[in-house]
Amino acid sequence: MTFAQRSLIDLRSDTLTSPDERMRATMAAAEVGDNVLDVDPTVRELEERTAALLGKEDALWTPSGTMANLIALCQHLQRGDRFLAPRDAHVLNNELGSAAWLAGGMPEALETDAGPGRPSLRGLARAISNGASTSYLAMRTTLLCLENTHNAAGGAIVPADEHAQLVAMARDAGIAVHLDGARLWNAAVALQLPPGALTVGADSVSVCFSKALGAPVGSALAGSAEFIEQARRTRQMLGGGVRQGGVLAAASLHALDRMNELATDHANAARLAAGLAELGWDVRTPQTNIVLAAVADVERTLHSLRELGILALPLAGRVRFVTHRGITADDIDTVLERVTSETARQQARGPASASPRMRL
Ligand SMILES: Cc1ncc(COP(=O)(O)O)c(C=O)c1O
Repeated sequence: MTFAQRSLIDLRSDTLTSPDERMRATMAAAEVGDNVLDVDPTVRELEERTAALLGKEDALWTPSGTMANLIALCQHLQRGDRFLAPRDAHVLNNELGSAAWLAGGMPEALETDAGPGRPSLRGLARAISNGASTSYLAMRTTLLCLENTHNAAGGAIVPADEHAQLVAMARDAGIAVHLDGARLWNAAVALQLPPGALTVGADSVSVCFSKALGAPVGSALAGSAEFIEQARRTRQMLGGGVRQGGVLAAASLHALDRMNELATDHANAARLAAGLAELGWDVRTPQTNIVLAAVADVERTLHSLRELGILALPLAGRVRFVTHRGITADDIDTVLERVTSETARQQARGPASASPRMRL
């Protein structure tokens, strides 16, 4: 059977979901206002609910997680300030350098030596002391930017106690903390904790509604009332003020109601990883909804998977599969069946006869 004849199973990202009938009905019924001139009541409801969930005074809707992070960095950093973030953090690798270009920060990666996606206290202490000189020649370190879950580390969780210790160390050194929580909801559901338990002490937190939660658009930035008041101005400066945004915010409110359903995505990711491991793949056991596989040739494997009607993406030198609301346990079984039969077919033909492009 050719690729075109197979039903496609798309595991590239948890941003691929489309609003279902119920979400669309909620959007259609949303009460709206002009959120730039004064206020949109549904956007405001989402902001207040998000602030409460994250244990912060206030929150601000933004069109994307990238903009929420950028607003936070613009406010925490002065031009030329150094900021610290775990290696391969989204703010370091995937925001087109806007932390430096637009927010003026000098990035420094922290090794993730406490576990996947997790910087150690020792590493943080070293980075802080390297930047602690009071000489007028020394760069100032003013921000620690954490990420939970850590995307490039395969949706890896920073546990609540580790988060609190990292934050306490930064704050003792007079360094502000921003948490990129694009998938914080996944961490909270996996740990069976309220999201606010994972944000303790952070000066600002960004979250996304358009990833695993399945809303079509939208993120938020939370922090103190004063921080958010300024963030509203920064968002406007960046062109992120939208008017009748309640239509979008309604989808996010609906998505928050079903947050606990993320556990299904986690179970599906675990099922996929276990099945691939049984077939001899080098995969990390996922903590949430992202499975990373180390393969000999990422491009070749992605091509072979595509031939089987399975889509994945390259990330940090590995193949990344992401489970989401559009993927069922049956889909995972189909993926495993296709990979199993292709592997058997290749083995039957012998390693030399398999086309290099088709080798998994
Ligand atoms: C950890 C993390 N932060 C921020 C973002 C950016 O979000 P957006 O795509 O909404 O700009 C992403 C996107 O995947 C992400 O994984």
